[in-house]
Amino acid sequence: MFRILDGKIVRDKIAENLAKRVKKLQVKPCLAIIQVGDNPESNTYIRQKKLFAEKIGAMVIHEVLPFSVSQKDIAGKIRKFNSDKKIHGIIVQIPLPKTLDKDAVIETIDPAKDVDGLTSYNLKLEWVGKRTGIIPATAKGIQTLLQFYKIPVGDKKVVVVGRSALVGKPTALLLLNDNATVTVCHKRTKNLSEETKLADILVVATGHPKLIGKEHVSKNQTIIDVGITSVVDSKTGEKKVVGDVDFEAVKNIVSGISPVPGGVGPMTVASLFENLVDSAEKQ
Ligand SMILES: NC(=O)c1ccc[n+]([C@@H]2O[C@H](COP(=O)([O-])OP(=O)(O)OC[C@H]3O[C@@H](n4cnc5c(N)ncnc54)[C@H](OP(=O)(O)O)[C@@H]3O)[C@@H](O)[C@H]2O)c1
Repeated sequence: MFRILDGKIVRDKIAENLAKRVKKLQVKPCLAIIQVGDNPESNTYIRQKKLFAEKIGAMVIHEVLPFSVSQKDIAGKIRKFNSDKKIHGIIVQIPLPKTLDKDAVIETIDPAKDVDGLTSYNLKLEWVGKRTGIIPATAKGIQTLLQFYKIPVGDKKVVVVGRSALVGKPTALLLLNDNATVTVCHKRTKNLSEETKLADILVVATGHPKLIGKEHVSKNQTIIDVGITSVVDSKTGEKKVVGDVDFEAVKNIVSGISPVPGGVGPMTVASLFENLVDSAEKQ
């Protein structure tokens, strides 16, 4: 039976649960978002985060720094948030200008407030299999989406296409620690379709629309489409968001797929706020 793995349903359930947890807290969980410049896509993501925060009763402080901000000044801003007891989570909205060392900026965040789970402290806890660190939101969202739809990962073959530090690698590591057998593919992978066809669960995070077509999939697979690319619809001339998978081409072959929009995107936002509320409860 073919299933759409709707992330909005899961997001709303997570929101309901988080709102109850927030009510029990003495303080309002507060997320500080640091944005550099005025990237329109970042503006959209930040808007979604603010809406979700409002839904669960959390607060967002949105600090916009000029494109010309120095490494020292952004680090100083993060340190101020690190020592502010009213702030429970800090994220730096990616992308950053090339003039900044992104990894050094992220490393400045106090690991206890690193609700994007991208500091080496948190990544190492998952890397060594301790599983006590904060998990990057998209990877965690994918894990939760699979759990919600009762798609087992342990003993399954997972193929992740994309090896970024933000999505591909943390997802591969998380699912490996959940006992999947994981293959990671990238631009230099020879015969991509031979690898992807072997997957029970295929996670695609490349930012390359229609990379995955019918020749890449097989029966009984679950596909998690992480890609988000804004394109112009050739029929209507309007802008729309598409994933990395040719949905129409694969839907009659595979057993389940997360749609774009409405699949992993909402899960990422919900998972970020799960991390925030966890942090607020601990602090
Ligand atoms: N839904 C969400 O919540 C969410 C969250 C984050 C990101 N995203 C989206 O997910 C996509 C990926 O994001 P990212 O940050 O991981 O991007 P990224 O840093 O650009 O990494 C893309 C990865 O895809 C691989 N790749 C690109 N073209 C490929 C091809 N033709 N064949 C095989 N591998 C290919 C690249 O391989 P190499 O390493 O060999 O270059 C790279 O590892 C983007 O569309 C982004 O907008 C969505």
